[in-house]
Amino acid sequence: MIPPKDAARTPKLPPAYRLVARESVPSTMEEARDLADAGAQDGTLVWAREQLHGRGRQGRNWESPPGNLYMTLILRPECSPNQAAQLGFAAGVALGDAIGSVCPPLDVLYKWPNDVLLNGRKVAGVLLESKSSADGKLDWLLLGLGANVESFPKDSAYPATSLRFEGTPAEVTAVDLLEAFARHFMNWVSRWLEEGFGPLRNAWLAHAAAKGETIEVRLPHESLTGVFVDLDQDGRLLLQLSDGTLRTVAAGDVFPVGS
Ligand code: BTN
Repeated sequence: MIPPKDAARTPKLPPAYRLVARESVPSTMEEARDLADAGAQDGTLVWAREQLHGRGRQGRNWESPPGNLYMTLILRPECSPNQAAQLGFAAGVALGDAIGSVCPPLDVLYKWPNDVLLNGRKVAGVLLESKSSADGKLDWLLLGLGANVESFPKDSAYPATSLRFEGTPAEVTAVDLLEAFARHFMNWVSRWLEEGFGPLRNAWLAHAAAKGETIEVRLPHESLTGVFVDLDQDGRLLLQLSDGTLRTVAAGDVFPVGS
């Protein structure tokens, strides 16, 4: 249920963004992709009140009823596709900051690569998609963000939650969260451009879930169990396997062992 307070208002974003507001779309990723291919500029942000076919990572469905936050930001950073993936961490940390500012006293943890957890349950996720030209140069990066404000799925692969379930008052809406996210994300991107990945990596690691613990990492064709030792300088996960070898993982899903 959407709370009565001005949930229906349109977000006010800093001038660096160009808001494309929609009531209902199949997925903000597809809307943004069409806009990016048509030349939409860096900072174009597609926001929808609901999605009919929301997508998660690894081809999963992302339940998208009204009341939660759904957005895709078009970015055109001048860097390699690998470096651009670091912006997924900027999104996770900026959302954590946003939750801290609009819903205190909730404390977030970050689950590799870009999930945000509250009380050990997933409240938000990030989906990155990019297009490069024939010479390998990044054309655009789509940063999709979904955050559970009012509701959460009951049957997800990883246990989920919402801000409301965690006790955030009904006055705080998806629009408030988007506005706070947009401010914090802009700050993190400026810092990333000036100082590189270091500060972002530190901020993420300071609230990393399961660091130093044994975890299971599910890859498309195998599953690895090992100790989550660190993040490397590019944001990849460093996993120490039981035979002592160190494995660097670029993409996968993290679960508690035996879940
Ligand atoms: C994940 O699996 O954790 C990533 C979820 C990303 C969901 C968001 S909601 C807005 C955007 N549109 C989509 O269809 N997916 C992303």
